[in-house]
Amino acid sequence: MRDLRLAGDVEEIDGRGHAAIPGLVDCHTHACFGADRAEEFDRRSGGASYEELHAAGGGILSTVRATRAAGQDELTAIVERHRGWMLAHGTTTFEGKSGYGLDRETELAQLRAVKAAGGIPTWLGAHAVPPEFDNADAYLDFALEEVLHEAAKLAEAADVFVERGAFDAEQGRRYLEACRDAGLTLRLHADQFTEGGGVPLAIELNARSVDHLEVTGPEGVRALASSDVTAVFLPVAALFLGCPMPPARALIAAGAIVALATDFNPGSAFCESLPVTCNLACTQLGMSPAEALVACTVNAAHVLGRADRLGRLAPGFAADIVLLDAPDWRYLAYHLGGDHVAAVVKDGALVHRR
Ligand code: NIG
Ligand code: FE
Repeated sequence: MRDLRLAGDVEEIDGRGHAAIPGLVDCHTHACFGADRAEEFDRRSGGASYEELHAAGGGILSTVRATRAAGQDELTAIVERHRGWMLAHGTTTFEGKSGYGLDRETELAQLRAVKAAGGIPTWLGAHAVPPEFDNADAYLDFALEEVLHEAAKLAEAADVFVERGAFDAEQGRRYLEACRDAGLTLRLHADQFTEGGGVPLAIELNARSVDHLEVTGPEGVRALASSDVTAVFLPVAALFLGCPMPPARALIAAGAIVALATDFNPGSAFCESLPVTCNLACTQLGMSPAEALVACTVNAAHVLGRADRLGRLAPGFAADIVLLDAPDWRYLAYHLGGDHVAAVVKDGALVHRR
């Protein structure tokens, strides 16, 4: 090894016996939310359905009530707390969506909170129809006229939930075209419960990613694989809600660009751990540990428009490094629930130590 001369104030970390991997990149989280949904989790464990709870004004809409009740400072403190949880699992870069405000003030407060906590904000202005609107089109009129302009100054991307009970593909198109014209990168939640046209819409609009894909069929697989749209798998959400797992192997075999993320949120995926997500990628999606690592480092950085500087241990890339207290880097996926993140370096500074 070359002799390195270190400045006197450099902190040395003894990495002997450890494995070093790039800092993990979580490209899909809903880390800004007021209040948990432990009560809903309890009810779902007794058989209540996620979609029925949502239709009855619970689910996402119960988080909307709690998020609206929190002020800017509280929302920022919440995202900072969640960032600490993520760091402890090796995540050095995270995306955070709005979508629990669905009014002007709270949507913008969520985007500011994500940014203040060091995250990359996405405006999920079309997550659900809030109770003060009669229908999805009336809500979209409001969101695009009253919120988009300010949201586009804070967010890098826009996202829409294309699903029965949320927004259909035509409504998704209207929302995304307006967001594209405002300069935002496009992303979609699609095919979580039903194949509702989100995949062809993502391809037509050249979206950066389409996320979920639990029920995507062979036609969607074929179309996605011949496009530049990244398929983002969220296996924790599929596990949490008892949904089928996305057709990851078919997408990879057909040549699709794929990424992995936690979907961290209080309802469908209360889990901030990318190592757990990697385990599910290997045990449930048929991915190899190497494919899983690529999917939540450099490919996730691509989803966030940062593949030129994040997600690799290479000259010219950020010094974001995770040291695993493990004899083999594959413990990242292999040791399910293991406490293996020994140290996390972000931008060259030690930010977490076990
Ligand atoms: O990605 N599917 C829609 N949105 C989130 C869940 C949000 C919630 O339940 O609060 C998701 O799973
Ligand atoms: Fe999500």
